[in-house]
Amino acid sequence: MASLRLAVLVTSVCLLRAEKDPDSPIKNLRMEPGSRRLTWDLSGNVSEIKCFINSKFITKAVNGRYCQFYVLPLCEVKNFTISVKQDPPFSTGIQYVPRGTEGKPAAAARGLDCWVHDGDFLTCSWEVGRAAPGDVQYRLYWRDLKAYREQECPRYEADDRGVHVRCRFDDVSRLQRHIQLWVNGTSRRSGIPCSDLCVELPEIERLSPPHITATCNKSYSMMEWNVLSHFNHRFLYELQIQKGTDPASTEKLYENHFVIYNPGNYVAKLKVQGFFRKDWSEWSAPQLFVCDPKDEHLRDWLVSVLVLLGTLLVLGLVALLCRRYSVLQKLFPPIPHMKDPIMDNFQSPKLVPWDTSRASREDCPVAEVHILGET
Ligand SMILES: *[C@@H]1O[C@H](CO)[C@@H](O)[C@H](O)[C@H]1NC(C)=O
Ligand SMILES: *[C@@H]1O[C@H](CO)[C@@H](O)[C@H](O)[C@H]1NC(C)=O
Ligand SMILES: *[C@@H]1O[C@H](CO)[C@@H](O)[C@H](O)[C@H]1NC(C)=O
Ligand SMILES: *[C@@H]1O[C@H](CO)[C@@H](O)[C@H](O)[C@H]1NC(C)=O
Repeated sequence: MASLRLAVLVTSVCLLRAEKDPDSPIKNLRMEPGSRRLTWDLSGNVSEIKCFINSKFITKAVNGRYCQFYVLPLCEVKNFTISVKQDPPFSTGIQYVPRGTEGKPAAAARGLDCWVHDGDFLTCSWEVGRAAPGDVQYRLYWRDLKAYREQECPRYEADDRGVHVRCRFDDVSRLQRHIQLWVNGTSRRSGIPCSDLCVELPEIERLSPPHITATCNKSYSMMEWNVLSHFNHRFLYELQIQKGTDPASTEKLYENHFVIYNPGNYVAKLKVQGFFRKDWSEWSAPQLFVCDPKDEHLRDWLVSVLVLLGTLLVLGLVALLCRRYSVLQKLFPPIPHMKDPIMDNFQSPKLVPWDTSRASREDCPVAEVHILGET
């Protein structure tokens, strides 16, 4: 069934060089798309046959009878050639024209890109082709290169004209590691060529920076974190710790935990890299860990914040009273020697000292974590 469908996909396979020579060891060179085999009729005795795609060596023939390909082009015309080792050497080829090449190339989806993210998700995006007709609609499909099962994108996102430009799949654990993806299109006016991509899912994973959790007290802080990934299992981390006004220190780690002694209060952030990969994740949002609530710097900082808040409060009240007072003054111009009922009752608010005993927790089991910028 599948082979029938794929056979229909191929509309033409043209011979590049006809093997007119009656002594040619290779006759009737042809592609069998269903089995992804380039095959031929062999006559005579040959020692070695090699197969090439666009002049690039791909594989040796199996028993001199056929070459087995892992994946065939879907959206591009390619030359398949074979060379026979004999004296003199012999070579011949065919041009393979898949159905996905029909139509104006500039009508095809552009810049197809896919990435795995947040552990479970696969997202692909593309742009509408520059020469795509107004009624174009694109669809994304993929198949794994093991079972060769095909699946359409379950959830599209469209641009403001309703043309699909993005696809999201939320269970990558159900996919094989190695998949082929393609975007083909339809229009009533013309054929839309497809665009394709072969990916190894672990290689296109963009790791998210992990969230740090810490258990700490005045003398000891144990930080831990976890990275979500179905494909990558070993990681390299870079942990940056900033204490007060000291210069930040950076640690490269292979473990997902780290201990610091006499931590005081500090800010930490983390980034991660797949062990066999080159690109780092973003930095995590800096997290503040309060392990020693009595720490001088922090208390100074809190006191200045409270003083500032108190000052603002006083200024606000004064401004409010002044406004009310001047309005009253306009409505009822002051009568000389009369007591002002508002101003005489007004007492400036006292700054209430901050109750430090509330904040001093001798033995805090889990650090207080604040994402800077959110608080
Ligand atoms: C084919 O060629 C190999 C080496 O070139 C030779 O050993 C073998 O006998 C030949 N077989 C036939 C059937 O000619
Ligand atoms: C494929 O073969 C054709 C005919 O020989 C040639 O014109 C074309 O340039 C070849 N394409 C590639 C990519 O090698
Ligand atoms: C797009 O690809 C799918 C999956 O191979 C196929 O069923 C569909 O007919 C193709 N659409 C067009 C317009 O070629
Ligand atoms: C801090 O925690 C560690 C580990 O839980 C513990 O061994 C230590 O006694 C604690 N120190 C203080 C000052 O509470």
